[in-house]
Amino acid sequence: MHAEIVVLPGDGIGPEVAAAAVAVLEAVATRFNHTFNFNEHDIGGIAIDRHGEPLPASTLDACRAADAILLGAVGGPKWSDPNAKVRPEQGLLAIRRALGLYANLRPVRTHEAALGASPIKAELLRGVDFVVVRELTGGIYFGEKTRTADAASDLCSYSVVEIERVLRSAFQLARQRRGRVTSVDKANVLETSRLWRDVATRLGRDEFPDVALEHQLVDSMAMHLLAKPREYDVIVTENMFGDILTDEASMLAGSLGLLPSASLGEPGSVGIYEPIHGSAPDIAGKGIANPYATIFSAAMLLRHSLGLEAEAAAVEAAVHAALDAGVFTADLAVAGSAVSTTQATAAVLERLQG
Ligand code: IPM
Ligand code: MN
Repeated sequence: MHAEIVVLPGDGIGPEVAAAAVAVLEAVATRFNHTFNFNEHDIGGIAIDRHGEPLPASTLDACRAADAILLGAVGGPKWSDPNAKVRPEQGLLAIRRALGLYANLRPVRTHEAALGASPIKAELLRGVDFVVVRELTGGIYFGEKTRTADAASDLCSYSVVEIERVLRSAFQLARQRRGRVTSVDKANVLETSRLWRDVATRLGRDEFPDVALEHQLVDSMAMHLLAKPREYDVIVTENMFGDILTDEASMLAGSLGLLPSASLGEPGSVGIYEPIHGSAPDIAGKGIANPYATIFSAAMLLRHSLGLEAEAAAVEAAVHAALDAGVFTADLAVAGSAVSTTQATAAVLERLQG
């Protein structure tokens, strides 16, 4: 097949990990007889520098016309003056919103060979396999913000439609997996959470009676995620809770550098694929960033946007094989020597079977 892929490398380690994933996609194209055309555009801090805004119209237009979007990361100290009018992160939030990407899938799996990199006991980690479905275009991230000299506010609001659509994504995903949904909220305190819980209960009863639904409060969920991570199949939650819980969940896998994501909208709309980690300015330019999260994200791109399941599985298998062989970047290497971004990428390419 032919696919037009927009690449948004962004800032910090973004360009390094995006290049790794592009190399893997190029190898997939060669080995499976596809043609992928890559076009790079600016987003985040680099876009502020070059265009004066974090999401230039040219970038958004290219994204709308693409079959899929691969993104590195945005942000960095250069642009993080708290009083700055424009921030790199606004570009990321704006593109998610402009493309209507309300469902952010963040799969969390442990890898036998990397269990030692996690601070959690190995016996709790073996076989962990869940997906967090994070609502991505609503809630406190997008509500009205106010700021005066001595006060500030961020509004959290959700409509029934916004809650229903992301919950449906989660229920449908659970049907293809182990049939269990855990809906996470703070219904003992927040009105938006009480609405969320009502909608989840109604959808579960009326549309997905075959899926087992449980509700969890976000604070106790933060604990359960570490105490019994194997129990979970699909976890669905609002924007900010999902942001926080998935950074926590990355410690199960051993590193933030292993977790990919797919941001999806209505069927047929273009998706964004990006690692859940940030731009890691402290290690940017050193060639030591872990490329696996972005390579796993490229696998999700193949699966969800291009419908290339065998290719996606081949990429995932190649990363697993590299991990099994102990090819670890510094974030994963507990003892022993760490490889560079390029070496880790080469190890994946070597193991990619056509
Ligand atoms: C993420 C990031 C972003 C978010 C930031 C960079 C705006 O932390 O994708 O998880 O909070 O959504
Ligand atoms: Mn985050």
